[in-house]
Amino acid sequence: MGDLLTGIASQRACRRFDPDGVVPDADIEQMLSAAVHAPSAENTQPWTFIVVRDAQSRGLLAAWWTETWNAGGGDFIKQSLDDKALVADLEYAFVKGGFAAAPVVVVVCADTERVPEIYAPSSIYPAVQNLLLAANDLGYGSCLTTGLTTFGIDRVRDLLKLPGNLIPMAAVYVGRPVKKLSPPRRRPATSVTYREQFGTRW
Ligand SMILES: Cc1cc2nc3c(=O)[nH]c(=O)nc-3n(C[C@H](O)[C@H](O)[C@H](O)COP(=O)(O)O)c2cc1C
Repeated sequence: MGDLLTGIASQRACRRFDPDGVVPDADIEQMLSAAVHAPSAENTQPWTFIVVRDAQSRGLLAAWWTETWNAGGGDFIKQSLDDKALVADLEYAFVKGGFAAAPVVVVVCADTERVPEIYAPSSIYPAVQNLLLAANDLGYGSCLTTGLTTFGIDRVRDLLKLPGNLIPMAAVYVGRPVKKLSPPRRRPATSVTYREQFGTRW
């Protein structure tokens, strides 16, 4: 991959953050600026961001992951995932303080006054991906989570004082990674690509 795309080639899910890592507002603003450059259906730009720095709120957003893990989410992951390193990393994030150490959590919401709920994900996640890539470009680690509704939507709404038209769709944990992450492991693009019709390999 050429130089232009090195950021894409190194973007990873970070689950071990330096609790003393600083993320200035100016850097958050660059990430958000990248996010709002994403395409959206009919240019509706249906995103709203809540940047959470407050330790108590971040603590709750992390504690609810612990609760979810202990309520059976952890067992499910252990049973369904063969990748033991990933299971350990997820457990670290959810129950061993990984996410709790991230100094910033950006909660990305879809505004149903701008987009019908059914079309929200396809317009929200391109913006989330831009945010992740910008965080990586700026030297930060980040991790996307999408299971906020498993906490109970009302708890998230109450915590962040969200009006009814905003659906929280992603929480992105951002901070300084404790250590540099290894390159992402992906199947090569050509192994999942066909010419003209399915069956004719690239
Ligand atoms: C839709 C979506 C949901 C995800 N949810 C979580 C999550 O809840 N917790 C987590 O630690 N990582 C989550 N991830 C990160 C993935 O686990 C990660 O991207 C994947 O394992 C590949 O690892 P890498 O990005 O480090 O290469 C999510 C990623 C996506 C795209």
